[in-house]
Amino acid sequence: MANKSLAKDHADTCVLVTGGAGFIGSHTCVELLNQGYRVVVVDDLSNSSEVALDRVRRITGVDDDRLAFYEANVLDREALAQVFEEHDIDAIIHFAGFKAVGESVQKPLEYYWNNFAGTLVLCDVARDHGVKNIVFSSSATVYGEPEFIPITEDCPKHEATNPYGQTKSMLEQVLTDLYVGDGEWNVVLLRYFNPIGAHESGLIGEDPKGIPNNLLPYVAQVAVGKLERVGVFGDDYPTHDGTGVRDYIHVVDLARGHVAALDWMGGKVGTGKADTLGTLAGEPAADGTRRGVGIFNLGTGTGSSVLDVIHAFERACGKTLPYEVKPRRAGDVAVNYAACDKAREELGWTAQYDLERMCADGWRWQSQNPDGYATA
Ligand code: WQD
Repeated sequence: MANKSLAKDHADTCVLVTGGAGFIGSHTCVELLNQGYRVVVVDDLSNSSEVALDRVRRITGVDDDRLAFYEANVLDREALAQVFEEHDIDAIIHFAGFKAVGESVQKPLEYYWNNFAGTLVLCDVARDHGVKNIVFSSSATVYGEPEFIPITEDCPKHEATNPYGQTKSMLEQVLTDLYVGDGEWNVVLLRYFNPIGAHESGLIGEDPKGIPNNLLPYVAQVAVGKLERVGVFGDDYPTHDGTGVRDYIHVVDLARGHVAALDWMGGKVGTGKADTLGTLAGEPAADGTRRGVGIFNLGTGTGSSVLDVIHAFERACGKTLPYEVKPRRAGDVAVNYAACDKAREELGWTAQYDLERMCADGWRWQSQNPDGYATA
């Protein structure tokens, strides 16, 4: 079956967003609706809240069928088939998946089943309905201990150190193989660096269950008084202050990267030449839409240390945040930041917001919603 064409206006394009009630998913729904797309969210609410979608409606003013929601898991083939039958889906942005690195070591079966098998079911049902346009939520984790910094897309991938990372890496391969086997597929793999911050309205943001694993939600909960002090994992790395350096990116910038990827797939931006992509780029289809596999880093290109982040958050919230240096965390690398030239040149996308703004917006969300969506 021929692939659905993306050579049309946003208003005529319907995007299935799996995991659309989650942190990155909800912000992406806002940007898609702002750009006039129709959106169908499939989310099992296992690590998210439907309140996020009410907030998406408030932010965008969209209160009609331009945004639809199905509570379902991507492993549920029948539920997915029903979504494709009830909506004329053109493309998929696939976020749904478990994302806690440590938990994935304890629960490998759950991670492989949900993340890996779930994506296979999704692609299978999509293909049955003639939808072969997919943007996949990948991660800088696929680079492992990076061979060079800043990390370009052709930096070799390394064996993942945990099942979460393994699923991302394996799914990149699966999606690439789909195109190799059937040149109708149009795939974009977006490798995220460290998404933080929140929508400037303070209405949507990150709402982790239990004690946060990641730095920013932890710092935010210290700032709001829910946790006592930040543990800084190691201060003897070869960096400017000894603490680990990462490429933090505002979640709204990241969300906009997905909208840019859809425009790119539709042949609306970029050159798509194989030599500039360095990935698999097929000849565009007769309608100008792309075919192939595009791989893009989404980061800012700027590295910030743990202490840089703590101090930026202190400025945002106007308080001193207590911290304590602890031993290094197993599996952490010293420095990790992206080269973002390819996304700029091909997608016409660059991150707009700096660390100060990420912390200001993150603080607005946290202070207005100290218990996340629970009390909404
Ligand atoms: C950032 C820095 C820590 C917590 C992880 C996943 C990755 C991606 C994003 C998402 C590091 C330090 C952290 C704390 C600290 N996955 N730190 N105290 O490890 O870069 O990336 O999240 O779904 O795949 O690996 O992000 O926020 O955990 O850590 O000092 O309490 O902060 O050592 O230097 P990381 P992070």
